[in-house]
Amino acid sequence: MKQIAWNTLGFHFTETDSIVRSAFHGEWKDGKLVGQWDEPYLTRDKYLHLHVSATCLQYGQEAFEGLKVFRGADGQVRVFRWQANAERLQRSAEALKMAAPPVELFGKAMRMVIADNADYIPPYETGATLYLRPLLIGTTPRLGVGPGKDFELIIIPSPIGPYYPGKFHCTSFIINRHVDRAAALGTGQYKVGGNYAASFRATEAAHRQGFDCLFTDSKTHRYIDECSAANFIGIKESKVESRKSKTESQKQEIEYLTPRSSAILPSITNDSLMTLAREKGYRVTRRHIRIEELADMQEAAACGTACVISPIDKVIDPDKGIVYTISDRPGPVLTDLYKSLQDIQYGRAEDRHGWCEIIRAD
Ligand SMILES: Cc1ncc(COP(=O)(O)O)c(C=O)c1O
Repeated sequence: MKQIAWNTLGFHFTETDSIVRSAFHGEWKDGKLVGQWDEPYLTRDKYLHLHVSATCLQYGQEAFEGLKVFRGADGQVRVFRWQANAERLQRSAEALKMAAPPVELFGKAMRMVIADNADYIPPYETGATLYLRPLLIGTTPRLGVGPGKDFELIIIPSPIGPYYPGKFHCTSFIINRHVDRAAALGTGQYKVGGNYAASFRATEAAHRQGFDCLFTDSKTHRYIDECSAANFIGIKESKVESRKSKTESQKQEIEYLTPRSSAILPSITNDSLMTLAREKGYRVTRRHIRIEELADMQEAAACGTACVISPIDKVIDPDKGIVYTISDRPGPVLTDLYKSLQDIQYGRAEDRHGWCEIIRAD
């Protein structure tokens, strides 16, 4: 194991020993891309020899992913739901007219790069993880606007620090109705670089004011879309009438709410949390969520691979002069969901859904 200050790593790239690469060489025939992927290979060289007119540089033919490798309480190395990332990369590839790497190729390349960089998988106690950044780029030189025929899959590993080095804490958000991250029928549901470059104006403006950015739907700006680069979750508690053996009583219902939108990335973390929420007996609802509904939420959070859950204490609506105060500390429902998911990821709880693959890395 490398001597690294695991606790002070943060979320930035730390050099590791190698990356893994695999190239696709193809041709467009009758509107279809046909070709084949080379065997993946490991390399210590982190630089690409890329033509200046490559379609990834000229036309943004690029997609990426993000997933984590955990060293568990039992010392085993686990990757969380990597097949879901591989499938999401395939959807992004198809959306941008790129070759979609087969799931098996993704898995093989991923196992190679984890094993070769096993010394960079942080120790269990640190809460740090090995982050994998799969990247898919168009490499064909092209001047005329259109998709290329050659692509490359690269997986870059980097240890990253724990998202909450101290204690689980809240963040505040500010609504931005003046910048859209993605168009309603655009590429928001795919993990492509262009969406992120398009969001920087809003996220950087929010950071300058000490907030994270809450995006609204780009068609009406009335509904919640996404939290910076994470999905939104709201928790509503209500009393509902229940009829049991002719007597009426009131029972507390917990609702897990998350936006339905054509422009948000289908988060694998959100999907996992929804499964756990259902198992805990909560009502899980995915629908359009009006901004004003923030006033009725007892808890809210951003969710994604990096943070798992990042509770929200307040949301500022500068256009309307409203501050939605949600909760000054992480609430019980989201704290419990956070713990349940982390217990599976770190091998402290039974993996009943088969979400983790144990990797032989040492
Ligand atoms: C725009 C956006 N939304 C949501 C997410 C969360 O997705 P996941 O839980 O799969 O990491 C991410 C991170 O990948 C993201 O970039």
